[in-house]
Amino acid sequence: MTSAPMPEFPAGFRWGVSTSAYQIEGAVTADGRGPSIWDTFAHSPGRIVDGSTGDEACDHYHRYAEDVGLLAGLGVSAYRFSIAWPRIQPTGAGPANPAGLDFYDRLVDALLAAGVDPVATLFHWDLPQALEDAGGWLNRDSADRFAEYADLVAARLGDRVKLWITLNEPFIHMSLGHGMGVHAPGRMLLFDAFPVAHHQLLGHGLAVSALRARGTAPVAIANNYSPVRLAGETDADRAAGAAYDALHNRLFTDPLLGRGYPEELGFDPAVVRAGDLDVIAAPVDVLGVNYYNPTGIRAPAEEDSPLPFEIVPLDGYPRTAFDWPVAPDGLRELLLQLHHRYGDALPPIQITESGCAYDDEPDADGRVPDPDRIAYLDGHLRAVHEAMAAGVPVTGYFVWSLLDNWEWAEGFTKRFGLVHVDYATQRRTPKSSYAWFRDLVRR
Ligand code: NOJ
Repeated sequence: MTSAPMPEFPAGFRWGVSTSAYQIEGAVTADGRGPSIWDTFAHSPGRIVDGSTGDEACDHYHRYAEDVGLLAGLGVSAYRFSIAWPRIQPTGAGPANPAGLDFYDRLVDALLAAGVDPVATLFHWDLPQALEDAGGWLNRDSADRFAEYADLVAARLGDRVKLWITLNEPFIHMSLGHGMGVHAPGRMLLFDAFPVAHHQLLGHGLAVSALRARGTAPVAIANNYSPVRLAGETDADRAAGAAYDALHNRLFTDPLLGRGYPEELGFDPAVVRAGDLDVIAAPVDVLGVNYYNPTGIRAPAEEDSPLPFEIVPLDGYPRTAFDWPVAPDGLRELLLQLHHRYGDALPPIQITESGCAYDDEPDADGRVPDPDRIAYLDGHLRAVHEAMAAGVPVTGYFVWSLLDNWEWAEGFTKRFGLVHVDYATQRRTPKSSYAWFRDLVRR
């Protein structure tokens, strides 16, 4: 970590932290919440490395006031949380469950009272199980259901939410959830998962108009991006890199910004109906960028590989507890790439997730020192600043995450928080990165 002072960010830059509903809320049967695909998946033996579930998670549903206090102490201007669709529509359709909306109403009011802008994500992977039973995102109907749900939420919270995010990382939901089967709903369709991409994007586009009809808050989508690092120099390696880039970085952005789907992926376009691409290209106000690391790619070793690329570990980087390479330069590269690729079509960017997992535990004095996280955030913020200096419009940065939480298939084994959580007692202990980020934000 360099000792040079952190360069200044412009006034009005949005400083925030992010979480998601299933990862922190717990209280999975409270107040009429229905089951989601993650309840089903987590309760299926062998799916989660430590056998845990999100049944209790951080018990945020009952402890949200304490957590808003942590946000206030951090001094952030915004908090990105997600709304659990199965709390609002327990079966994914029909009228809103008032008790479910009440929870987010209380949360939003508490945030505003603490001077923190509520940034609400509508879908962070917890699809109502009843919709999955009807085909989930493979079923075009889910796009209409999503827009109806967005309307119900906006009718109640649209006067106070400061930024809407329709979908979180639709690429990861498609690839890990429907391509590789390591996330809910656990389907292994490889490239046949393409309808999941299209129907999520269609749902996004329909939700954009529902949200616009209910208020004036800006609308965004949060995409995951990972710049490609080629692990070979042959033409076949370059072709593999281009294919991976099209899949990870362009599939959910090209159509959003009016370019249609990348052709090189060779998806069967049968699910794309006339007019869909116009719905998907409805202008957004902000592009949310979630960045963690670059991806090493080379041509597949096996001739009959089902995928046109092979993912390989990247050498020469420090690694997080997730074994992900720490590569802040990848964030600068990615931001410049988005800027050059989309030019004037690119809306302002907010980094909606950036963060790292380390095995943080309290020391003998009860403090939780996490110098690696401080170095990680320091490096990534400098990378953002460099991209801004080079002309990329970035207007905010959210750390993933406020709290240690339930990390999907990794259960409780990966700690991403600025605040340590003891899951046995639900005690929250701010780590040293919390004080570091607070001091940075204060400046
Ligand atoms: C992205 C996801 O949106 C979030 O839910 C997850 O916890 C982080 N990445 C870390 O893997």
